[in-house]
Amino acid sequence: MVPDLSADLCARLREAFLTAGYTADGVVGVLGTQAHAALGRGEPEPARRACRDAGALGTLIRLFLLGDAEPEAAVRAALGSVDLADAVAASVVTPAGRAGLDIRPYEDDWWVVADLDSELRGGAVPADHVLGVGHASINLARATARRPVGTLLDLGTGCGVQALHASTHVSSITATDVSGRALALARATFRLNEIDVELCEGEWFAPVAGRRFDQVVCNPPFVVGPARVDYTYRDSGLDGDGASAMIVRQLPGFLAEGGVGQLLASWVHRSGEDWAERVRSWLPPGVDAWFVQRDIADPALYVGTWLRDAGIDPRSAEGRAKANAWLDWFAAGGIEGVGFGYVTLRRTGSADAEVVCEDLRHAYDDPLGPEASRWLDNVAWLRDHDKSLLRTRFTVPETVVLEEVSAAGEEGWAPVVRRLHRMDGPGWQHEIDEPTAKLLAGCRGALPLEDLLALLAYAYGEVDTEEALRVVRDLVRHGMLTA
Ligand SMILES: C[S@@+](CC[C@H](N)C(=O)[O-])C[C@H]1O[C@@H](n2cnc3c(N)ncnc32)[C@H](O)[C@@H]1O
Repeated sequence: MVPDLSADLCARLREAFLTAGYTADGVVGVLGTQAHAALGRGEPEPARRACRDAGALGTLIRLFLLGDAEPEAAVRAALGSVDLADAVAASVVTPAGRAGLDIRPYEDDWWVVADLDSELRGGAVPADHVLGVGHASINLARATARRPVGTLLDLGTGCGVQALHASTHVSSITATDVSGRALALARATFRLNEIDVELCEGEWFAPVAGRRFDQVVCNPPFVVGPARVDYTYRDSGLDGDGASAMIVRQLPGFLAEGGVGQLLASWVHRSGEDWAERVRSWLPPGVDAWFVQRDIADPALYVGTWLRDAGIDPRSAEGRAKANAWLDWFAAGGIEGVGFGYVTLRRTGSADAEVVCEDLRHAYDDPLGPEASRWLDNVAWLRDHDKSLLRTRFTVPETVVLEEVSAAGEEGWAPVVRRLHRMDGPGWQHEIDEPTAKLLAGCRGALPLEDLLALLAYAYGEVDTEEALRVVRDLVRHGMLTA
């Protein structure tokens, strides 16, 4: 049965949550940071102890965050003006006094409505499971450019989390999903948060055929495997990395000129095949594209991770059978690994669109969204100034430092590695040679690049101008040289 949380029920739930203090801050306030962190690690006891005497808020925490059964009187009291029979009919709570849905505070006094995960259900999730806010959702939200725009499409909205974030910078939001259940829960999320979102049901881009958006975000069902759908939230029904390929190919057609699309995506790694060539081949012309590979998983790690994600024990008979079938599929396709990362696309209409595929596999803290906006700006600047780069007075920002590693030799310490680090954003690093280090030392905003190259030629005999321009372009894209 698809849960139907009416506008009236959501308004009453919202009021009850605000009255009890069932908000992100309220929950941390009662639990304390240690019990809250323990709950995040799947260790509920410290939280259970901390909210023992917390009244209505304690009831809501036990009900929705700990999965406990609560006495009827306590549930009635915690839900305030909500009629308990309505809450049961809408699957918010069960007749046994347990949560029927996962309704939890999220970020700035938002709530997200989703299905109970396998831990709270106590078993594997069904095929039409609607995922709550997971690592992938948060990764995409943090990697999304947040400049004010008029229209945004959230493709595959699920519980509605990307659209929630979009509500901070977009005037008009459209969210689609193939799953009627997902749309019902997303609708409840938007009603609880008093956010107006157009909801459309259908496969991929079909519900928005012929329309254009200023921005598109998509956390697709990108799991790589045979062409079948075990779980709607993660399986596309397309073979291998077909879902990522199809979205990258089609998304630009739904962008307004200059519009930006961002998605999470996966791509297979085959022996002798360059992943960058593979993902480039998915692109239509006239699109700036930035593929950032965050990680590569080998087939064993990949299969184990996704079995556990669905609540399937890889040691169980079901787990072993699924693992074998999946690993056979990887082996038959010659697939050695699965790359995963972020894709940023901009419709430019320009014949010399920029496509960059790069690894970003070290740990960093800053969200990638501002960097994505900056990357797009830097790429546009480079396109506009391609003919005048040599006349540009560049500056190395203060956040960029040079690390030198030296080895002891006959004549004392001799530098063996020179590495440029950006200390903010994603912490880009570039290994450079001695002449480049000298060139960058001169980039103080005073002399044009051509003068610095002339000085370098004087010191070193000759310089390769084309190679210097290639390095300069790379550094500009990474925000390590500014004009
Ligand atoms: C990984 S979930 C992402 C949910 C949410 N946007 C987030 O960021 O957490 C993928 C979503 O895509 C939806 N989906 C799966 N197949 C689809 C298809 N063929 N067309 C449209 N949406 C689809 C699923 O129902 C699910 O809600």
